[in-house]
Amino acid sequence: MNPIIANLTKQKIWLAPLAGFTDNAFRTICKKCGADVVVSEMVSADGLVNNKEKSLKYLDFTDFQRPYGIQLFGSDPAIMAKGTEIALAEKPDFIDINMGCPVKKVVKRGAGSALMNSPKLAENIIQKVKNVMSGTSIPLSVKIRAGWDKYCINAVEFGKRMENAGCDMICLHPRTRSQMFSGQSDWNLIKKLKGKLTIPLIGNGDINSVEDIIRMFKETGCDSVMIGRGILGKPWIFRNIKEHFESGEVSDISWIEKIKIIKEHFELEIESKGQTKASLEMRDHFSHYTKSLQGSAKVREFINRCLDSEDVLEAIETLFLSQEKTFNG
Ligand SMILES: Cc1cc2nc3c(=O)[nH]c(=O)nc-3n(C[C@H](O)[C@H](O)[C@H](O)COP(=O)(O)O)c2cc1C
Repeated sequence: MNPIIANLTKQKIWLAPLAGFTDNAFRTICKKCGADVVVSEMVSADGLVNNKEKSLKYLDFTDFQRPYGIQLFGSDPAIMAKGTEIALAEKPDFIDINMGCPVKKVVKRGAGSALMNSPKLAENIIQKVKNVMSGTSIPLSVKIRAGWDKYCINAVEFGKRMENAGCDMICLHPRTRSQMFSGQSDWNLIKKLKGKLTIPLIGNGDINSVEDIIRMFKETGCDSVMIGRGILGKPWIFRNIKEHFESGEVSDISWIEKIKIIKEHFELEIESKGQTKASLEMRDHFSHYTKSLQGSAKVREFINRCLDSEDVLEAIETLFLSQEKTFNG
C-alpha cells in the first residue's frame, strides 16, 4: 500500500465533515483535543471553478490541522476534476469526494448521495479526479452511504466499484439517503464492505463514546473510525479516547478545562471571522456545549440575544462552574 495511505489510516480517529460546524477554528480545537485526521466542510466544485469567494474560503486550513482532507461535492466529472485541481493547489493531505450528502439542494443537482443511484457517473467522477491527481502522491477517498433507500442498499457493490475506479480509501456512513440522520446506522454493512475491499475503510455512524469506538473496531474490522455529531458540544471526547488508548481508563476532563476549550474555540472563531459573524455562528456550538446542563435553557436564551463575547463567555463559565458545584458537592 502507498505509505501515505497506510500512514493516514494508521491514524485511527477521524473528525467527520459537518457543514456549518467543522470550520477552520473548530477543526483546530478538535485537533488540539486529539483528533487524528480532519476534513473540510463540503466544498462545491462548481463554486471553486466559478471563483466563488465563499467556496474558496472553505479551503482554508492551517498546517497544525494536518493530516487534512478537502471534501468536494458536485456531479459533473469535468467540473469535479477542475475543482480538484484548485483544491490541490492548497496542498491538502487527501481529497475526498462526497457521495453521501442527503440534502435536497445537493441531490437535486445529482450530487451527494444521488451519485449512488448513478454508479457509472460516480465512476467517471472518480476516474477524472484521479487523473488530475496522478502527478501527485495525494490519496483520493470517497464518502458514501448505505444506499438510496431500503429498497436500494448498494454500499458494498458501489464501494467496490469506487475502489476499481481508482479510489484509495472509502468512508461508509451506513444509513440510506431516505433515513437522512434518523434511525440507526447499520454497522453490519461496514463489516461486509470491509470484507470486499483491498483499500482501507473508515467506519462512521452513531459513535458517541469511547465504548462505541471500541465496539465499531471490534464488530466491523474497519481501519479507522470517523466521529460526527458525537463531538458536537464535546470535542474533548477525542482527549478521553486518547487517554483510554494509553491507560485503559475512561474518564472525563474537568469543567474548568472544558471552559478553557470553549473560550479558545470562540477566540479562534473571532480571529477567523470577526466578532459579529463569529458570535452569530457560535450560537449553534454554544447550544451543543450547554445541552442538557442544569439551568442551561436560560443561559441559551441569553446567549442567543447577546452579541458581547465577554458576556457570553461569562454566562457559560458561570453555568459550567455551577455544574461543578452540583456534581462535585
Ligand atoms: C450538520 C451536519 C452536517 C454534515 N455535513 C457533512 C458534510 O459536509 N460532508 C459529509 O460528507 N457529511 C456531512 N455530514 C454527515 C457526517 O459527516 C456523518 O457522516 C454523519 O453525521 C454520521 O456520523 P455521526 O453519526 O457520527 O454523526 C453532516 C452531518 C450533519 C449532522
